[in-house]
Amino acid sequence: MKLIQKLGIALMLCVGAASFTVSAEPLYDKMRGTTPLLEAPKPPVLGNAINDDVRRTRNYPQQPPVIPHRIDGYQIDKNFNKCMDCHSRSKAEISQAIPVSITHYQDRDGNTLGQISTRRYFCVQCHVGQDNVKPLVGNTFQDVDSVILNALKNPANSSKKH
Ligand code: HEC
Ligand code: HEC
Repeated sequence: MKLIQKLGIALMLCVGAASFTVSAEPLYDKMRGTTPLLEAPKPPVLGNAINDDVRRTRNYPQQPPVIPHRIDGYQIDKNFNKCMDCHSRSKAEISQAIPVSITHYQDRDGNTLGQISTRRYFCVQCHVGQDNVKPLVGNTFQDVDSVILNALKNPANSSKKH
């Protein structure tokens, strides 16, 4: 190979390497930080879950209510469901917990069962405890009451939407 060709190839390789390093800006995610997608980030230490026993307003009627008490160490596996020890219909009087609603006894065909439905067995799939921390991402959700109130205040805006 002629010297000039060798130089040309070397130059092309340099340009390629340079453009690669420029475009490979690390991805930043609020929860993962700059950990690459294929690597697991170090999990943050467990927080101090809110335990004030104050039931929170639901943002919409279908929202699974959040848990206002600690749940550390509550067993939920094929042998036992600690949550149902308090939240089942028959335990409500002793525990004063809100019994799970009828949807928790329904199978996917809408049949009401005598026991908690397997679809609702693993409570923490849907219900979560709360930590007293700053939200990681912003949220502009408005509940239906605010939407109705705004519509009453500005009837012109709301009629346009229909
Ligand atoms: C020792 C009894 C007890 C156990 C066990 C228990 N809870 Fe509760 N839970 C309560 C009581 C009592 C309340 C009412 C608010 C309060 O006192 O914290 C409640 C409130 C809740 C609420 C709020 C309901 C609403 O309408 O706002 C949710 C959701 C909930 N619990 C889920 C769970 C889940 C999930 C588990 C298992 C991981 C669990 N609870 C285990 C007693 C219990
Ligand atoms: C697949 C999601 C899902 C799972 C799993 C689930 N829930 Fe719920 N839960 C909901 C939703 C949605 C609501 C609110 C609407 C409703 O009642 O269906 C709710 C409501 C509740 C309420 C309030 C009931 C009321 O009448 O105000 C309690 C208490 C509760 N769940 C406890 C539990 C417990 C305890 C478990 C585990 C045995 C559980 N949930 C499993 C979705 C779920």
